[in-house]
Amino acid sequence: MVQKFTFGKPFDTEAVVQEIKASKGSLPFGIARKKDGGLCWTCPLFDGDKIFGLGETMRGIDKRGYAFDSFNTDQPNQTETTQSLYGSHNFIIVFGKKTFGLFVDYPGRVKFDLGFSNSSELCVQTARADADLYFFVPQKKSGSLKEIARAFRELTGKSYVPPKWAFGFCQSRWGYKSAADIEKVWKTYRKLGIPLDSICMDIDYMKDYKDFTVDAKKFPDFKNFSARLKKDGVRLVPIIDAGVKKQKGHKIYEEMLAKNFDCKNKSGTTFEAGVWPGDSVFADFLNPDARAWFGAQYKALLDLGIEGFWNDMNEPALFYTKENLKTVFARLEKFKTRPLDVTGLFEFTGTANSVLNNADDYKRFFHKVSAKRAGAFAATKPDKDKNVLVCHKDVHNLYGYNMTRGAAEFFETQEGALPLLYSRSSYIGAHRYGGVWTGDNHSYWGDILLSLQQVVSLNLAGFLYTGSDIGGFNGNTSRDLLLRWTAFALFTPLFRNHSAFGTREQEYYQFENPDAFKSMVELRYALVPYLYSEFLKAAKGDGLFARALAFDFEGDERARSVHDQMLVGNEIMVAPVYVQNAIGRHVYLPEPMTMVEWKGGKVAAQKKLSKGDHFVEVPLESVVFFVRNKKKVPLAAAAPCVDKIDWTRLSFVGDKSAAYELVDCE
Ligand code: GLC
Repeated sequence: MVQKFTFGKPFDTEAVVQEIKASKGSLPFGIARKKDGGLCWTCPLFDGDKIFGLGETMRGIDKRGYAFDSFNTDQPNQTETTQSLYGSHNFIIVFGKKTFGLFVDYPGRVKFDLGFSNSSELCVQTARADADLYFFVPQKKSGSLKEIARAFRELTGKSYVPPKWAFGFCQSRWGYKSAADIEKVWKTYRKLGIPLDSICMDIDYMKDYKDFTVDAKKFPDFKNFSARLKKDGVRLVPIIDAGVKKQKGHKIYEEMLAKNFDCKNKSGTTFEAGVWPGDSVFADFLNPDARAWFGAQYKALLDLGIEGFWNDMNEPALFYTKENLKTVFARLEKFKTRPLDVTGLFEFTGTANSVLNNADDYKRFFHKVSAKRAGAFAATKPDKDKNVLVCHKDVHNLYGYNMTRGAAEFFETQEGALPLLYSRSSYIGAHRYGGVWTGDNHSYWGDILLSLQQVVSLNLAGFLYTGSDIGGFNGNTSRDLLLRWTAFALFTPLFRNHSAFGTREQEYYQFENPDAFKSMVELRYALVPYLYSEFLKAAKGDGLFARALAFDFEGDERARSVHDQMLVGNEIMVAPVYVQNAIGRHVYLPEPMTMVEWKGGKVAAQKKLSKGDHFVEVPLESVVFFVRNKKKVPLAAAAPCVDKIDWTRLSFVGDKSAAYELVDCE
């Protein structure tokens, strides 16, 4: 099924867990040649071919027709023309005349031209000519999509499973500045009876944005505070940023430098760049000792009762470097005397903007790895320990992955349940260590659809624990947007309402009739046994939790093209409303299904619908979902938090005569 082809001397990304001997001879699909210093693989595309995959990217479930750039990017402007986001997941499935999968295991920039330059050609270009290509050739005529998806996971390893409480609702906001702010969120949710399992703590909880510190002024007696919340079933989930504040006396800064675990400039001095804390330094996560050392720092917060983390800014985001600032200021100087005419104006603003996440800054720093691992990427001769330096730019996409890995590997050494962990930046392989959220989206209606498309594509890349900021991170949300978004997101494993500093407050209680939101969150809790059980089945069996209809209905031409519905586990299909003021939507049923309407905290209606097209009305305060043919879905009674869900008393929707296998890991 899987064939590996090695070109040049690749860097070992550690994405793959299965030993596969490289094949010699011609490729099963397409041809590869050297081009522009890199490897260029091309393959014809035929009418009707579809391309699934690429994980966290913009646009549809079928990626054909556009070009994408795998290069992890801190990207607050997610639009249809955005080519790079926070993660790089270089796995695609071409489905059609010839169906196969391709994983391009390469740690730096990879361009995917999926019929953009030439509609009948697929072209993948790596920055350097050293890469491993894995081809997945299905053995069966039908079910090839699932077969390829499974083989990819067998190659890259089992997906991360979070603690059960992480399937509860999480309220977050960049802007909770003190224990009092967080207490208000907690108490208000409880007062209104809206279930809640966690509250995220964004950067403001830290002392001067220093990782692994808690500002004692804003959070006096933090340990006791987190214990009080936990007693009531609410966990605090702090953010951890990649950049470590450069400050004399800051323990982890000093320790990192003393141990030589910092990323260095070519000359061997410490690489510095600005992020939230101002001037910062960065641990060399590609060095296993540095990675383990950083991972061990999470203990400071575990000791305070913390059981969950989100890793951020780990592309890494670089707001500025002093070196680049010098260049930018020098360039801007000439605009003092130059007219800001049409070309001048854009050059001027472009120059000013080039301070942020500048590509040249990624060339300035280096990682220490073994010469064996580095392959042709070594930028220096091996030292006495047989280590070499590699330039960050060449291995850029592995940084966030290894930050998360460091934490996860540390957690495994600790007693007790594994903490929740998810990251912004990732690469294939990171799915073994944590989940991802999809970063800084907007309060746009289209971002509900984007979320669905990202969730199914991320599942295909192995990231099962995933979700988007409900209501939108940037911009001001509206009540109807938040309702429609929640009605969809309650089916995604990560169920978190998060928003940016300065935007309209979007906790559910900020809007009229919070009971409408309460009803939706209650449905989520009713579904937790099902969602968790289906998640476990997918994680343990290398299957997909959320997926496009094409994966279960390969032979159905209509189902293959559905881009705005998804299957959730083996029993449920969802079809969100993502247009403002719509009273419902068209839904395609690839088989007869039971339509379930949830309203006012209970099942309001169930109706059998035939296979085919339907216009389904969805009132704003209702959730409508579909139970597949000859299947049933368990529902638990409402509970304030996941720990209080009674898994033994379940009712069912769908075909009551069907069987349902409930799987639980504890
Ligand atoms: C980044 C994160 C966002 C967070 C913010 C402040 O933009 O993506 O979720 O709120 O930083 O920490």
